[in-house]
Amino acid sequence: MPLLEMKNIRKAFNGVYANEDISLSVDRGEIHALLGENGAGKTTLMNILFGLYAADGGEILWKGRKVHFRSPKEAIAEGIGMVQQHFSLVNRMTVLDNVILNLEGNSFVLKRDQAKTRLLELAGKYGLHVDPDALVSDLTVGERQRVEIIKALYRNAELLILDEPTGVLTPQETAHFFEVLRNLRREGYGIIIITHRMSEILAISDRVTILRDGKKAADLVTSETNAAELSMYMIGRELSEERKAGGAPGTETLFELKGASVHHKHGKSFAPAYLAVRKGEILGIAGVEGNGQKDLAELITGIRKPSSGSLLFKGEDISHMSVKERYKRGICYISDDRQTDSLVTDMSISENLVLRDFAAEPFAKNGMIRKGALLKNAAEKMEKYQIRASGRTGAATPVRLLSGGNQQKLIIARELADDAELIVASQPTRGLDIGATEFVRGLLSEARDAGKSVVLISADLEEIMLLSDRIAVLFGGKIVGVLDREEATVRKLGLLMGGVTEDET
Ligand SMILES: Nc1ncnc2c1ncn2[C@@H]1O[C@H](COP(=O)(O)OP(=O)(O)O)[C@@H](O)[C@H]1O
Ligand SMILES: [Mg+2]
Repeated sequence: MPLLEMKNIRKAFNGVYANEDISLSVDRGEIHALLGENGAGKTTLMNILFGLYAADGGEILWKGRKVHFRSPKEAIAEGIGMVQQHFSLVNRMTVLDNVILNLEGNSFVLKRDQAKTRLLELAGKYGLHVDPDALVSDLTVGERQRVEIIKALYRNAELLILDEPTGVLTPQETAHFFEVLRNLRREGYGIIIITHRMSEILAISDRVTILRDGKKAADLVTSETNAAELSMYMIGRELSEERKAGGAPGTETLFELKGASVHHKHGKSFAPAYLAVRKGEILGIAGVEGNGQKDLAELITGIRKPSSGSLLFKGEDISHMSVKERYKRGICYISDDRQTDSLVTDMSISENLVLRDFAAEPFAKNGMIRKGALLKNAAEKMEKYQIRASGRTGAATPVRLLSGGNQQKLIIARELADDAELIVASQPTRGLDIGATEFVRGLLSEARDAGKSVVLISADLEEIMLLSDRIAVLFGGKIVGVLDREEATVRKLGLLMGGVTEDET
């Protein structure tokens, strides 16, 4: 008898199926991967299992018994644990307090001691190393994830659901995390892991269920499949994930950041020492998120001014120039915060395409907006950048009605203007489906091939390695290493991302 069986689960939001007759079963001692593109329905299915959503149809058998969890509390009581994409720990409490939060009788000192012993036992047994007395706010993302798992195990979970757990880890942390999963498997736990990384699925899972557009596309035994087959089921074709070799990048320096620093009120500072961007290269910025990526992007684009040091663009000191002045010189920004930084979502596609230069020719003359010019520009850009507006309103469609992928293409269409020379692209493919991701990556490579320079900031190391000519690694607000593409192995990058310096590697 399987530990868990989900049968013909259905769930619609506003009349559209997010899950349509999906079945899935997991045994004890099995790692089951759930694969699918963004929006395929993975999280919805797991939320139903965990009691967060009520299904419209289908049934769940837990240890052979029909169940229906009306809340996570009920699911947890039956032995199901879920580590969600966004952790639910309380930052200003210790690890121990988080683990025993909402469990009864823990106010007694004796109980706390017992709880701590049990926590340390679990941690030791499965390799979930973490200090019970540390404040959660002081932990790395990897450590927080371990606390979440300990918390579930402490509540006697027998099935663990992990929603995109590796997205926030360095390669070394991922390797360690997989060791933990193997330890749990050995002890008979059932594990459901959501990921869209083929390599991880092949490395860790026993079986894989693939969702596509809310339906089950396949379930396969991992040892009998391969990456090509998985991507066929997931998107209907094979992925072309070759590294896109650039032309020989020049050695001419376009931009330099010389000891520029940022000081924040809460104490964290950004002091990246030295960074140079060459003409016609994609310079990848690798690093676990929150290590200074935003400061770097904002320093280059002028949103933030340096507290010390200087920034040179073609030899000119631009340190104190505004965003607008820098833009005029060809410094553009594809921000990771599309909705607030880059788009006016109530305005139309054609207007958003000229947000930067609507007051100048050819879009305006003598203070009057020229609608014809706006629409002509929009028609060209929508064609070239494959921006699709649903419905009949075309270029007049308000941007808020576009999908994430189309919003992103719009921003890129605007920022990759002919006179752009340095493009800062921050998480340019986050949240996009695979088709849009490939398209956007292609645009960045093309820009590079046309002699433009791109600073590619991405939390996705595979993306960095795929596109970059050189790779700089950010850790703790500093550039801790810059590698040429030939020498940039996952191992080296991973160590740097974890704070081990180049000499130590
Ligand atoms: N609470 C919700 N309300 C409305 N639509 C939702 C909700 N949750 C998910 N959806 C929709 O269901 C579909 C599947 O989403 P999700 O399960 O999050 O996909 P995945 O985890 O595979 O990326 C998406 O189209 C999403 O927009
Ligand atoms: Mg999801």
